Amino acid sequence: MCGIVGYIGKQTACPILINGLTALEYRGYDSAGIASIENNKICVMKDKGRVSNLNNIKGINKLDGTVGIAHTRWATHGKPSKENAHPHMDNSETFAVVHNGIIENYNELRNFLTDNGYKFLSQTDTEVIPNLIHYHFSKDSYADDNKFLRAVNQATKDLKGSFAIEVLSNLYPDKMIVVRKDSPLVIGKGTTGYHIASDIPALLEYTRDFYLLNDYEFAVMDKDSIKFYNENLVEHEKEIKNIEWDASAAEKNGYEDYMLKEIFEQPIAIRETIGSRLKLGEHCDFSDIEISKEYLSTINKIFIVACGTAMHAGLTGKKFLENLCKIPVEVDIASEFRYRNPIINEKTLCIFISQSGETADTIAALKLCKSKGAKTLAVSNVIGSSITRESDYTIYTHAGPEIAVASTKAYTSQVVLLGILAIYFAEILESTDSKVLEDLKKDILDLPKKIETSLATTDEVKKFAKKIHKEKDVFFIGRGSDYNVALEGSLKLKEISYIHSEAYASGELKHGPIALIEKGITVISILTDENLIEKSISNIVEVISRGAKTFIVTNQNLSNSDFDTVIKIEKTNPLLSPILSVVPLQLLAYFISKEKGLDVDKPRNLAKSVTVE
Ligand code: M6R
Repeated sequence: MCGIVGYIGKQTACPILINGLTALEYRGYDSAGIASIENNKICVMKDKGRVSNLNNIKGINKLDGTVGIAHTRWATHGKPSKENAHPHMDNSETFAVVHNGIIENYNELRNFLTDNGYKFLSQTDTEVIPNLIHYHFSKDSYADDNKFLRAVNQATKDLKGSFAIEVLSNLYPDKMIVVRKDSPLVIGKGTTGYHIASDIPALLEYTRDFYLLNDYEFAVMDKDSIKFYNENLVEHEKEIKNIEWDASAAEKNGYEDYMLKEIFEQPIAIRETIGSRLKLGEHCDFSDIEISKEYLSTINKIFIVACGTAMHAGLTGKKFLENLCKIPVEVDIASEFRYRNPIINEKTLCIFISQSGETADTIAALKLCKSKGAKTLAVSNVIGSSITRESDYTIYTHAGPEIAVASTKAYTSQVVLLGILAIYFAEILESTDSKVLEDLKKDILDLPKKIETSLATTDEVKKFAKKIHKEKDVFFIGRGSDYNVALEGSLKLKEISYIHSEAYASGELKHGPIALIEKGITVISILTDENLIEKSISNIVEVISRGAKTFIVTNQNLSNSDFDTVIKIEKTNPLLSPILSVVPLQLLAYFISKEKGLDVDKPRNLAKSVTVE
């Protein structure tokens, strides 16, 4: 989705802005632009295509203003083009704005502004914002210091939808105003000034001290100071937060792509997720959320709500919670959940999983649950993200920044964290024998080591990827937890290789999809649950006898001669096996994408965080 960068300080803004946009490229975009104040005038430079194209714009090297805003656009209203790229200015070129989010009432506002003599040069929803600011500014007869802020505030009151905006004005060449609602925006305090971005990784090079803006909270900056105002324009103090992410964690560190780096970071990420929460012989420590036995005993239903890969992590979370806590759990896709009138009350606990913490559908589902009296718990990777601020409880995965669009280490960390959470609940509720919990803890602590074996399958997986990279359709099958992994493997393959794939519960094959199995088709099976092995093997034999090529990820001793490729991983508790079995599937998707010469980290049409519905 769109990315925002801004700078106000003592240094030349342009290189900092372009650097920031480059760091945000992973979010997905189709055009880019910057605006800076040059000799008390706003100078806008923008174009369709990559951020690197900006360097070809005549005169860009000569920009030496120290205040600037910048944007990467992912088209929603209007095609990718220079005109539709941000920043946008009002008709008088007094205000420049970059915007993330969607203005839902832009048609109405456009008509209103048109009736008042304003003209529009783009098809975007954003262009109404600078013109609205101008409209309110020109109607305000007081010429005090706060006039600029009042105009921005009035304009935001007219907007319906979501927005994170940065505003510059040639009348206030040393100032920048930013504000957000339901769209992420952070302000970093650097050594030479203030850095603004939609995403923390874009700023790690400059600082780890951040102000995390709330909805309708305005920040007004000059090169040495920052002031915060609420929606009534009452000034207030704001706490600065130190984000512990390492700057190098957002770099490739010698890997060809972020995705490969993040796949290989999984042992470390899982160690960080476990942290000090889980120790043998002790109760799990979630002192940060303090859920009481009294409250937990009233819960008769848990919903897990998320999108994409995070939802797949939720499917495994369900197994943990139902097995250990004996509470029924439903897993929902956020965009469906919010419109299906789910039965929620104060006896329902709603868990929301989101790597970014900014996924619009997940946030909307969370707000719905709150409004119905349920307690909400967020599982997120991004400190201070929107979802964590909306929910009653938050637990962090601590997987470090995930840059590649295709989620890998966030998934395994989410599964681990849900496992630890289920043990924590089970300890409070005394719902599972303590020996069973102790064994599970031991298995969780062994995961970082065991995942190394899964990573060691790289060469074999690469060979298979070479063999099948030209295929059009691939099937993934599995039973129980293995089916959950099949879903995730299939999503990874679709996302980055653009190969059509389907994931089926093995037992469902005979109910329809087996009609599609013919000579040469690839069927990928996950086979880790001892209790289901025989039945699963029968399903694989059925596809082999119809001519399928087989790629099997298993912790069992299967004979290589019966299958095309057998990828051996370590044994663990069946609840935890998705963490080990997903890795070869992540690698398979990665190597197929490489074989096809695709952009692994930035697949077409996709964005890292989906901040619009
Ligand atoms: O940031 P979130 O975890 O809320 O994102 C949810 C999905 O958009 C995300 O997992 C998506 O499916 C990934 N691209 C999967 O690789």
